Amino acid sequence: MRKRIVAGNWKMNTNIEQAVKLALDIKAQYKGSEVDVVLCPPFTNLYAVHRVIQDTTIKLGAQDLYWKDGGAYTGQISAGMLTSVGCQFVIIGHSERRQFFGETDESVNKKIKKALDYHLTPIVCVGEWLEQREANETETVVARQIRGALAGLDADDVAKLVIAYEPVWAIGTGKVATPAQAQDVHRFIRTLLAEMSGEATADGIRIQYGGSMKPDNAAELLAQPDIDGGLIGGASLKADSFLGIVNA
Ligand code: PGA
Repeated sequence: MRKRIVAGNWKMNTNIEQAVKLALDIKAQYKGSEVDVVLCPPFTNLYAVHRVIQDTTIKLGAQDLYWKDGGAYTGQISAGMLTSVGCQFVIIGHSERRQFFGETDESVNKKIKKALDYHLTPIVCVGEWLEQREANETETVVARQIRGALAGLDADDVAKLVIAYEPVWAIGTGKVATPAQAQDVHRFIRTLLAEMSGEATADGIRIQYGGSMKPDNAAELLAQPDIDGGLIGGASLKADSFLGIVNA
């Protein structure tokens, strides 16, 4: 049985005060669960949030990293920096990074390898644009992203990943994929992973859904056989809505 995982992607939201307050609120309201719960605040708030949650089972994740160990790369953050402030997870290849910051399948691949070197669990994001879905290209696009992201990884490494399927048209739009639409793509991803890395790896890997997941639509999405959790944007910025999804 795959352990479910719900991660909050705070994106470019929260100053230090707001981040600490949100983490404290989540900690106060969190009763524990069978689910892995991960908070992904902006870089500047990672350490402060780590301090708040370090005596709980809630885990910390970053929203990106750079694939070099260190050096003259102004503005970048390394895997070692992330582990030093308590991160266990890192989101890689979010569609907003692909859209606005030139992230490619190649850079996603390098980042995944570096994260694994440092025992960080990558949350690898894939997903199609609306035009691609309408042109029936969803599977082609997602397969290209998965193959590119996982290039050169052996089955043992693939087994360590979390995949997040996030249809771009559902992110921040309030237009959630139907449970059947999401399940179809999750099934497709798992089948592809079985081809690439074997059945056992594919069966064990956790695939989150992301895109306008809210407390009132989470339960039916999470009831699908291949949906193992959620990557939550907007609804992760309030303790009650985030935990409403965790408890769903
Ligand atoms: P959303 O974002 O929940 O606000 O749609 C999800 C994401 O981008 O990870």
